[in-house]
Amino acid sequence: MAEKIPFAPPRIDQAVIDEVTKTLQSGWITTGPRTKALEQEVETMTDVPKVLCVNSATAGMELILRFLGVKSGDEVIVPAYTYCATANVVMHCGARPVMVDINPADGCMDMDAVEKAITAKTKAIMPVDLAGLPVNYAALRRMLEKESIKSLFQPGNDLQAQLGRPLVLADAAHSLGALYQEAAPALLCDAAVYSFHAVKNLTTAEGGAICLHFPEPFDNLEIYKKLNTKSLHGQSKDALAKFGKNAWEYDVSEPGYKCNMPDVLAAIGLVEAKRYLSDTLPKRQKICQEYSNLLSKYDWAELPVLEDENRRSSAHLYLLRIRGIDRAARDRIIQFMFDHDVSVNVHYKPLPMLSFYQSEGYDVQHFPVSLDFFEREITLPVFYDLTETQQQRVIETLAEAVQKEIG
Ligand SMILES: Cc1ncc(COP(=O)(O)O)c(C=O)c1O
Repeated sequence: MAEKIPFAPPRIDQAVIDEVTKTLQSGWITTGPRTKALEQEVETMTDVPKVLCVNSATAGMELILRFLGVKSGDEVIVPAYTYCATANVVMHCGARPVMVDINPADGCMDMDAVEKAITAKTKAIMPVDLAGLPVNYAALRRMLEKESIKSLFQPGNDLQAQLGRPLVLADAAHSLGALYQEAAPALLCDAAVYSFHAVKNLTTAEGGAICLHFPEPFDNLEIYKKLNTKSLHGQSKDALAKFGKNAWEYDVSEPGYKCNMPDVLAAIGLVEAKRYLSDTLPKRQKICQEYSNLLSKYDWAELPVLEDENRRSSAHLYLLRIRGIDRAARDRIIQFMFDHDVSVNVHYKPLPMLSFYQSEGYDVQHFPVSLDFFEREITLPVFYDLTETQQQRVIETLAEAVQKEIG
């Protein structure tokens, strides 16, 4: 029997184990020097003025929406084709996620659909860099500059008035290291949030990083401080500050949240960050390109966009679509792959197909591109240690399964 090919195991090598052990032995395991060092690594990687690490991308996105005062009665535009976190954080704030369909070519949120969805209630737009491919940020920014769009905007508080348009908050959970016109897409957003969840390109087991890039006259350092406080119960001092000699006393200025990143997790991220741009990212990009090379001879293979004139994907996921099949055939192909010890996945079941969002009145029939993308999609394994021989086996197994379906 051939060995099992996993889907996306994390890269836990001796360097990671040593750094985590050092942290455990240091006596300081919660938020402290390692978390701050990781923030600096992400700042250097992205070139944004400030980065705050938190315990998940979900918490990071919610913190930003809360900071801007998004609330009941407001609308936030999200793609229908994403992980539930993108819309869930909008629900947490009491606002309404307004879903839009995606482009068939790349799976990213369709900017014409976004423009049509903007109303006087729109407070934020949340593009998702699906699989690591940046959305068309230039089109989004151009659209937000249109007089017709600007004149619709109705701020609900002073911060929103200062921004003067809907917030651009990227769900960049997949896209650390991706490029839009040779720079981090975070530089085209007010805020972009990366995920460091266990399967992500760079992991801290669980974690996330908020990249702050609010335009003038916002002060990103001030926003960082406010969000830092918000991530720690609204407490005026964090654990490290309270640790000082007779420094126990603190105040609470708001009922904040509890979503700080602990140093023991930042330790994993620090090792990962130091080798990310030089090693992990190019390796993943090579793996995805190799899949495209191996698949190029098959007419049934609809290949994902890994790169075009403006964009370079971070190669987080390889989202393959199979031409000429329906959902039942797709599911049989997946079964065949697992029966042959090749782990695959599906990204994503469109949000309007999830029972909660159905109960909220969303209907996938209004998102035909998302539905079609989902029904024909299979995500192939991508991880640092995946070998070329394993990749060949993935594609041979897949080709055998597809032949059975389409003859
Ligand atoms: C598109 C997308 N957004 C948000 C998230 C949430 O990230 P986290 O688990 O760090 O909260 C994920 C995680 O899988 C994701 O894939």
